[in-house]
Amino acid sequence: MSSKCQELQELRLSVIPNGHASGTPFYVESASGAMIYDADGREFIDFAGGIGVMNVGHSHPKVVAAIKDQAEKFTHTCFMVMPYESPVRLAEKLSAVTPGSFPKKTLFVNSGAEAVENAIKISRYYSKKQAVITFENAYHGRTFLTMALTSKVKPYKFGFGPFPSEIHRMPFAYCYRCPLGLKYPGCGVACADYLRDFFIGNVAPETVAALIVEPIQGEGGFATPPPEYFPKLIDICRENEIIFIADEIQSGMGRTGKMFAIEHWDVVPDMITTAKSLAAGMPLSAVVGKQEIMDIVHPMGVGGTYGANPVSCRAGLAVMEIFEEENLLSRAEDLGKKVRKHFEDMQNEFEVIGDVRGKGPMLALELVKDRESKVPASDEAKALTKFCADRGLILLACGNFGNVIRTLMPLVITDEQLERGISIMRDGFAALRDTK
Ligand SMILES: Cc1ncc(COP(=O)(O)O)c(C=O)c1O
Repeated sequence: MSSKCQELQELRLSVIPNGHASGTPFYVESASGAMIYDADGREFIDFAGGIGVMNVGHSHPKVVAAIKDQAEKFTHTCFMVMPYESPVRLAEKLSAVTPGSFPKKTLFVNSGAEAVENAIKISRYYSKKQAVITFENAYHGRTFLTMALTSKVKPYKFGFGPFPSEIHRMPFAYCYRCPLGLKYPGCGVACADYLRDFFIGNVAPETVAALIVEPIQGEGGFATPPPEYFPKLIDICRENEIIFIADEIQSGMGRTGKMFAIEHWDVVPDMITTAKSLAAGMPLSAVVGKQEIMDIVHPMGVGGTYGANPVSCRAGLAVMEIFEEENLLSRAEDLGKKVRKHFEDMQNEFEVIGDVRGKGPMLALELVKDRESKVPASDEAKALTKFCADRGLILLACGNFGNVIRTLMPLVITDEQLERGISIMRDGFAALRDTK
């Protein structure tokens, strides 16, 4: 018996290129809060949030109303031709909710990668320097510059080179697999001090425009540095007049229980890139930075046809209101505590879970063949996500070896939905253990 999902899958294979692949064969009909419903009437609990985009939940009535209202008024004039109110108001909000009490300005563009591109463009213009420091296991996007900044070769970079030059890659504070072979706290967070050696062996600081870093690495596996890491790193940047850019495209907008993850380290970046949950699924990204840096570019030097789209910006303003009215940051903190407790219990029960890490509800489980060798359990992670999807839970893997399970569920998930999702995960881990 053919189903709507099967029908769409067959048509898709003949009209959509293989490169734009999907993790599941279920075609979405509708979604609400933390639930997704497919074209054949199946329901799914969403622990993925469309890769961290749905922090306020699917089809939040406030977001839907803002989008409808704006669409009825106008959908586009191009901000560079005739401006309008919503990006101005949203920029004002972003100045208030990002770390740092200095004057700031915000550039709106469309995707995370485009925000990163612009952050680097502006940094180079301001500093009159060219080099950029990025990290092992970093992910910054799929355009040429952001592919160059990204670490993992397959599937992100393979076959697409050559890439832009002047990109230099440092080891990251991935404590579970320390790149320097050390152990926290005895290590003294040598991986941050290593930036000084990096200037000797890799790139002269006089030529470095910016250092770009994810406070918690997203696609790279949710590596979460110790408290001393970013304060040390930013001090070295300051000493060498290097612009510190926090890429908060995945970790920002309340994902970790704070508006921006870097606040957990009490560090104030020069620039922040944000996207994903900024506009609840409408394409919108932003570079928020110190006014003197952001203002350096000549008129029309940055922008784009769709940048600061009015429908997206209205959705962004609705998101900001939802955070305030529904107290989403404290909800996120509470959710994070619940998920962490479940994950730590699971780690006690299932040998395959080598590490539990993250902040707030941006949490991950790293799966290993055994805890001694730490050989990545990539097939097990794949089997787990499939097991869960088949039973109605959407779960994402990440990490260089695809062996890290991460949570990016809407922050508005109910306790009942959370418990159901966790119970499916638990069944999945039990099934893995039983088939070993
Ligand atoms: C940290 C980070 N930077 C940049 C990007 C790229 O964003 P986009 O896919 O919107 O271009 C992502 C996407 O996952 C991300 O997680």
